[in-house]
Amino acid sequence: AAPLVLVPEVLPPDWLASVHAAADVGAFELRDDLDAVLGLELETRRRVVGLLTLLTRPVDAALLDAFPELRVVSNMAVGFDNVDVPACTARSIRVGNTPGVLTDATADLAMALLLSAARNLPAASLDAREGRWQTWSPTGWLGLELRGATLGVVGLGKIGLAVAQRARAFGMDILYTRRSDAPAPPELGATRVELDALLARADVVSLHVPLRPDTRHLIDAAALGRMKPSALLVNTARGDVVDQVALQAALEAGQIAGAALDVTSPEPLPPEHPLYQTPGCFIVPHIGSATRATRRRMAELACANLLAGVRGEALPHAVNGPI
Ligand code: GLV
Ligand code: GLV
Repeated sequence: AAPLVLVPEVLPPDWLASVHAAADVGAFELRDDLDAVLGLELETRRRVVGLLTLLTRPVDAALLDAFPELRVVSNMAVGFDNVDVPACTARSIRVGNTPGVLTDATADLAMALLLSAARNLPAASLDAREGRWQTWSPTGWLGLELRGATLGVVGLGKIGLAVAQRARAFGMDILYTRRSDAPAPPELGATRVELDALLARADVVSLHVPLRPDTRHLIDAAALGRMKPSALLVNTARGDVVDQVALQAALEAGQIAGAALDVTSPEPLPPEHPLYQTPGCFIVPHIGSATRATRRRMAELACANLLAGVRGEALPHAVNGPI
């Protein structure tokens, strides 16, 4: 029987054209229901050589051990905190991700959240719809002017840099932290600082670090306590970078003014969660990369990683390696 690759059934077939074409020539068979295949006998699971995964799929040692011939895990996301990479490496399984193709879309969404928080769009929109727009009020719905305000970019990687460039166009001053020693491009005119100084000085703090053990709850009660009472927090990274209980307390106590979250812990955040009712907070459902063009490019790149991996070739974008 031909080797199998498994892809999530929610992906439109035309996004997977390259895998379909390869499957057509008999290289391997394509199936789209990992959970169904997981339930099958070892003989079938031994045929599985590649997994295309979404960020909602934890890939742990137990899952890997269900597929003893697995060669590649291709995660359709830039983040790969859902994948136990050391467990993959220990089994000589290549892991791929999709950086680059989602940089602009995610930076656009971060900017949309920044603008929405700065100008109170969620509350103002609700006020208009619910009859609280009585007159043009000179002092109503006052927000933060971006020109001259300071943006703190926590994690100046590809996405953080793209956000900083956008914020520059709005006249913001940029502070940043970054793990790598390489300086930001000089034309950005951005200033590198320690995280504590960034938190103390920024009018808006935008998070762009991956979720790793050292970034889990990076923004905790102490970090929130360093921020200005007028400051806004934007998170398009991962929910667990923020201590959500501490965030709720900080918003309720007026320690910071607002938070705009594209990511939460858990996801989805259930509708009865108190954070939805917390003043100054608004939440969108992890849509950072959700443009038609970007999601297609992410799928295509995930397919390229998958096909390279099943063929034993280096991945276009590998997270581990060399394998
Ligand atoms: C989305 O959150 C991604 O990591 O691509
Ligand atoms: C980080 O921001 C990245 O683009 O990987």
